[in-house]
Amino acid sequence: MAGRIPQHFIDELMVRTDIVEVIDSRVPLKRAGREFKACCPFHDEKTPSFTVSQDKQFYHCFGCEAHGTAIGFLMDYEHMDFVEVIEHLAARHGLEIPRESSAGHPERPGKGGGDLLDVLDKADRFYREQLRKHPNAKQAITYLKQRGLTGQTAARFGLGFAPEGWDNLINAAGNTESARQALEHAGLVNKRSTQGYYDRFRHRIMFPIHDHRGRVVGFGGRVLGDGEPKYLNSPETPVFHKGAELYGLYAARGAIKSTQKVLVVEGYLDVVTLAQHGIEYAVGTLGTATTRAHLERVFRYCTEVVFCFDGDRAGRAAAWRALESLLPSLGEGRQASFLFLPEGDDPDSIVNKEGREGFEQRIQAATPFSDFLVQQLAHQTDVTRMDGRARLIELAKPLVNKIPAGALKELLKDRLTGLAQTDRETLERLLDGHNQAAHATATVKRAPPSHGRVTVKRSPVRELLALVLQHPELAHIAHDTEELKQLQAPGIELLTEVIQTAIDTSGLTTAGLLERFRDHEHHRHLEKLAARAHITGEDRIEEELRWLITRLRVQLVDRRIEALKERSKEQEAREGRASESVKKQLDTLLKAKRELQTRGP
Ligand code: UTP
Ligand code: MN
Repeated sequence: MAGRIPQHFIDELMVRTDIVEVIDSRVPLKRAGREFKACCPFHDEKTPSFTVSQDKQFYHCFGCEAHGTAIGFLMDYEHMDFVEVIEHLAARHGLEIPRESSAGHPERPGKGGGDLLDVLDKADRFYREQLRKHPNAKQAITYLKQRGLTGQTAARFGLGFAPEGWDNLINAAGNTESARQALEHAGLVNKRSTQGYYDRFRHRIMFPIHDHRGRVVGFGGRVLGDGEPKYLNSPETPVFHKGAELYGLYAARGAIKSTQKVLVVEGYLDVVTLAQHGIEYAVGTLGTATTRAHLERVFRYCTEVVFCFDGDRAGRAAAWRALESLLPSLGEGRQASFLFLPEGDDPDSIVNKEGREGFEQRIQAATPFSDFLVQQLAHQTDVTRMDGRARLIELAKPLVNKIPAGALKELLKDRLTGLAQTDRETLERLLDGHNQAAHATATVKRAPPSHGRVTVKRSPVRELLALVLQHPELAHIAHDTEELKQLQAPGIELLTEVIQTAIDTSGLTTAGLLERFRDHEHHRHLEKLAARAHITGEDRIEEELRWLITRLRVQLVDRRIEALKERSKEQEAREGRASESVKKQLDTLLKAKRELQTRGP
């Protein structure tokens, strides 16, 4: 895999790129006051509600709530992935992308991800090398051969070998205490209850898991032969979230785009074996349920998802759960189907028996999403009876209402009308219930990027976060993030992280700041806040910001005052009166509070 793109380069690209130019060449913009407007390319509309802010380097549609930076726009509009966008922008500006070697410096100072990625990269090299050079590698190679894999396939997926023993990786990569701690943070070694560390992965075939930028973020390790657990995975770490990563997606993205199809399977080996047989568009869910985040990832690249499950009851239940998380992502033009395999088989065994052609025939014959949905609903109810048909509609209601408006939804409603032996109008009324808002009739031109309906409540911390995101140049007003951190309010960590990043790198725009957090688990939340309109006028932003910081500081002082009061009460009960020092401290705090309230931060 190519080296990592350093953060400073992305910062530089963000400075050079003008979002107005990027969008205007694809969707002609008109100036409107301080901003630019157009009809939204992500949904169908007649009056423009798509706005682009040059100051913030950010776009936002008030109609469908699509929003993001220039990078995000290109990813959604051109269906490019992150690396492709960076390559595209770099080429436009005639810049060459510097790649960081594994020995490079931590990529994102202050974000905690950089070191981890370096450590994981090192471990990845180590495991791969062991597969080639370790005296006992033969056993691993024999195992892989016996599973039908070629050396070429093993190399393509970067398979490795963790030899037997408790300290192979530690000896190779953990020669200082801080290196050992880094290995622990990366989920590669465990701490002993007594003292020291030991390798997490021992005597296993190693499957590196790459993120959407090709960086190793975790591993799956399969025991050689029999043994428990059969697969051991990396734990959740700041860079590895099982609910968001799909095994093999990075390697498969080209094939997924060219076939416009992705096959979602369960196992590591399924993905690898399928690819060897020429089915290169498969990804694995790492043994967890398919999440909304998984689907958003894959729908970036293609319009059709085929889920592969066991034919048994557990498989059907898993398919139903996948269907439920799928509904909100089913915009116009997107398709999904379910492929159930004979009991006792999995994709690995089937493709070995039937080859590519046999397997692809099965894919062709997979059950379409709507058939599966209707089948399952009909199974649960007795549609020969009136109360059964009423129940069918009740069951269908929450599901249908999750599907975005469009042809698919309409077709599904038609089928339900038939099944429930009712007319369309009655069905609409029953499905709608009180939910008139869901009655939008707009048809969707291009599937809106799934920014999700993250509704964000208002609280001083979130208000402040939104203001700092929209005006990074004012972050310095908050100066002391250490103090703010002591306030144990929800979101305070994220807030201080954003403030600190804005202070540390001067000149960041809203978009530049957001790009720094692209891989952060709260990235979408931050984008949402960056897009939020404020009640305050632009000219009073700074005042508002000062006021909010003051409020948080006052909260902090108030908590200290409360704690002290508690203490002095306890003292009084115990010793008859509170000590002078406690009284003094209380006085100081009260004074500090008054000062804050009159003078601000
Ligand atoms: P399976 O038990 O179906 O294994 O688990 P498999 O993929 O067919 O593996 P082989 O063919 O025996 O090598 C499916 C997936 O569930 C997860 C793994 O991601 C695995 O690929 N799993 C399974 C675990 O995480 N831990 C386990 O102990 C077992
Ligand atoms: Mn298997």
